[in-house]
Amino acid sequence: MGSNPQANRVLSGMRPTGQLHLGNYHGALRNWVDLQYQFPCFFFVADWHALTTGYEDTSTLPEYTREMVIDWLAAGLNPGVSTLFVQSHVPEHAELHLLLSMITPLSWLERAPTYKDQQAELQEKDLATYGFLGYPLLQSADILLYRAGYVPVGEDQIAHVEITREVARRFNHLFGRETGFEDKAEKAIGELGSRNSKLYRDLRRKFQEAGDAAALEKAREIVQSNTRITVADRERLLGYLEGSSVAILPEPQVLLTPTPKLPGIDGRKMSKSYGNTLGLREEPDSVARKLKTMQTDPARVRRSDPGDPEKCPVWSLHQVYSDETTRHWAANGCKSAGIGCLECKKPLIDRIMAETTTMRERAAPYEDNPDLVRAILNEGSEKAREAARETLDEVRSAMRLRGA
Ligand code: TRP
Ligand code: SF4
Repeated sequence: MGSNPQANRVLSGMRPTGQLHLGNYHGALRNWVDLQYQFPCFFFVADWHALTTGYEDTSTLPEYTREMVIDWLAAGLNPGVSTLFVQSHVPEHAELHLLLSMITPLSWLERAPTYKDQQAELQEKDLATYGFLGYPLLQSADILLYRAGYVPVGEDQIAHVEITREVARRFNHLFGRETGFEDKAEKAIGELGSRNSKLYRDLRRKFQEAGDAAALEKAREIVQSNTRITVADRERLLGYLEGSSVAILPEPQVLLTPTPKLPGIDGRKMSKSYGNTLGLREEPDSVARKLKTMQTDPARVRRSDPGDPEKCPVWSLHQVYSDETTRHWAANGCKSAGIGCLECKKPLIDRIMAETTTMRERAAPYEDNPDLVRAILNEGSEKAREAARETLDEVRSAMRLRGA
């Protein structure tokens, strides 16, 4: 199809969990920060998703949203570059979710691995709800609403993006052909101006009759560089080149975040529910204190016992934070009992303190002024809505929901 001018958009979301920790940073957020300078990015607080499991007590939502977004900003997300917003501020997510629910077979949702897993994991909650079953479909709506090409997520979310692709395919199959598509495309050609109209027709013929890929490329350039035609016409003209209809909802791809699993101070995976985290904005003293007591190779009881880095969570931190020389020094010193564990931790303490100090400095203006955060989210939500409305307009037309 190749007719998606938003193909390089990146979209991702996080449920509002309050303050983030360094595991969240290295597992997701750092990647977002890099992506924002390569693609147009949309990042949002998935507060409706939080409701699917946390519907009984919603009192923490405002604080959790604010604190998480402050962490985003602390990590370096730039609201002048990325669009940062809140899902529930963009009601278009709900409308698309509803429309997609009409064409989504129950079985697709029931077989999502997260469905049964989470119900088993969160036994204390009644998750036999309509909303929880629809979790992946709400996520599909989130993604398709912006016609994102890429969705940066961890492995646990791959199945949800796969469902998104299936839903998009089904939607396009059912509604992807505009009535009068050809007429509208022909009319759009006229909008290109007489010289380019002729060129477009010639190039289209060359591609369709002889498979001339260079001609296709050239024709796409003509369409894409034209700033006077509407977005809808541009899509039609791009679709018409290949004789296909328009993909109203393009299929997104996962951008798998290469995640070093960051260990917490007890050696298990860093996780809020284990209470073993280092906060993104942890105080320097606390960073030092926690790391000093961090679990090491259990076999290394005395200073004179040689250790095995592979059995030590501190070593995993060195993988993330230390350069080659330091890693070499640590591994050798450990195996030969040449250094003690506290010595081995010292460069990490320095690095992590420097990291959290930077974050704290970036966060400070927002901590002092919550209105600033609110303004950023309001502005982002407005921008997001504009993009969302464009998609929904097309979806409504395709489904004939345009009135009589
Ligand atoms: N389900 C995601 C998570 O728990 C959060 C999320 C909601 C999301 N909507 C999304 C991620 C859309 C990517 C795209 O991590
Ligand atoms: Fe772990 Fe370092 Fe101690 Fe070895 S020396 S057990 S790698 S903390």
